[in-house]
Amino acid sequence: MRAAVVEAVGSPPAPADVDEPVRDEGTALVEVEAAPLNPVEIRVAAGRHARRAQPPYVPGLEGAGRVVESSRVPPGRRVRFEGPALPGFGAQGTLAERAAVPEESLVELPDEASADLAAAIGVVGITALLALERAAPAGGERVLVLGATGAVGQMAVQLAKEMGAARVVGAGRSAERLERVRELGADEVVELGDGDPTDAVERAAGGPLDIVVDPLWGEPAMAALRVIATEGRLVNVGQSAGADVRVPLENVRNRQGAIHAISSGWTPFERKADVYRRVLELALDGRVEVEREVVPLDEVAGAWERQEESPGRKLVISIGGGG
Ligand SMILES: NC(=O)c1ccc[n+]([C@@H]2O[C@H](COP(=O)([O-])OP(=O)(O)OC[C@H]3O[C@@H](n4cnc5c(N)ncnc54)[C@H](OP(=O)(O)O)[C@@H]3O)[C@@H](O)[C@H]2O)c1
Repeated sequence: MRAAVVEAVGSPPAPADVDEPVRDEGTALVEVEAAPLNPVEIRVAAGRHARRAQPPYVPGLEGAGRVVESSRVPPGRRVRFEGPALPGFGAQGTLAERAAVPEESLVELPDEASADLAAAIGVVGITALLALERAAPAGGERVLVLGATGAVGQMAVQLAKEMGAARVVGAGRSAERLERVRELGADEVVELGDGDPTDAVERAAGGPLDIVVDPLWGEPAMAALRVIATEGRLVNVGQSAGADVRVPLENVRNRQGAIHAISSGWTPFERKADVYRRVLELALDGRVEVEREVVPLDEVAGAWERQEESPGRKLVISIGGGG
């Protein structure tokens, strides 16, 4: 079968012929129609992950398609699924015509959900909603979304509004992309440049921050913690702006604040299925959107390189004429 294959650490994947996946106990066999790219697998293939990947391997964390064989879902049903583990360390991923995936990861799709939407909104929607739910909004909060120009950030901006935030501020590096964040519902945006954004963030929010959704860490997250509200919560999901920082702990402590962190990869499938269904329903109702671009498997290497630079939209690889 055809698949994207990483042949060497430091090189993007290329289409190649590989063996059919083997269905073990606890896994279902699915035909993949669409599978998005995610930043973590770009880091694994580039050799920037804590563990060194062992090529050759098929990347891809998730996808949408049809059941071929499953003990839970009849053949032919349309489903969203996740791979068994982060590919590159023994597990084979979803950027292939067929994949063996955990049975528990299967979520049946309504007819109106296209494969590219169902694939694109997976890890992104799950992560953004898990992060916001960890912050337990009661309504009326001032919310800052860092990395708001990225896929997780764009979704968090929209979900924060849906969950009743009084004011949502999106912060990111690109003025042009921040305009799109405004269109998606941000009340204000802050451009992250070389200077300290602390004052700009507080001004834009109209006061201290009740909730921060943080895919960046680094200096932007430290700025947010300097203006955290009493009992404010920062929920970290990534560290695109770096890990070596000095946390303004005294301020966090004085505000009785909390720093949480979530990982969709380490969240039970049952919880993820629930969160996924809710985000998909919002998308099908036109309440949230996930900007995406569908790219054929033959062009996976170019898409991979664009994902490395944060493309400002979800790149979804279409496989086997589905998508
Ligand atoms: N915890 C989890 O379960 C989970 C799940 C999904 C993603 N993540 C992580 O969350 C992060 C965002 O994912 P994504 O899918 O939204 O990625 P994405 O679509 O590629 O967006 C990346 C975002 O980070 C910004 N960014 C990148 N490098 C930066 C830097 N040095 N300084 C400031 N901003 C920077 C980008 O800004 P520009 O638009 O200006 O480039 C963009 O807003 C990644 O680190 C990813 O690994 C975690």
